Amino acid sequence: MKVVLGADHGGFELKETIKAYLTDIGYEIVDMGTDSPDSIDYAPIAEKVGEYAVKENILGVLCCGTGIGISIAANKVKGVRAACCSDYFSARMTRAHNNANILCMGGRVIGAGLALDLVDIFLTTEFEGGRHQRRVDQITAIENK
Ligand code: RB5
Repeated sequence: MKVVLGADHGGFELKETIKAYLTDIGYEIVDMGTDSPDSIDYAPIAEKVGEYAVKENILGVLCCGTGIGISIAANKVKGVRAACCSDYFSARMTRAHNNANILCMGGRVIGAGLALDLVDIFLTTEFEGGRHQRRVDQITAIENK
């Protein structure tokens, strides 16, 4: 399974940890950067990762300092449903109910252990469809206005 990753400097270290972990357990990783801890703006990275995730119909993970800025930016890309999560239940439910396609986390908010658990549950939980499909369709309708 292919997963696309991206981060600014605030999420760089966490993104590298996630990349090593996912590579180790057999995921194919597309890394859109950043490639160093040097300061870099998060919006262009969110845009690249979002566009790639939508085009390839795959899941993605984005990290910045809080996970918030990069999620706001990613959600401006048509077809992206990015969710900033720092707890296990939200990371599971945003796949099951929102059909989120990008998990966002804050490298200055959560530790690597929790982050990897969130990545695991996000990547392995299926969208439930049914009444949730109608709600996701309503989100898409707003996006298409
Ligand atoms: C960068 O300093 C920081 O603002 C960014 O990583 C993120 O937390 C924004 O939401």
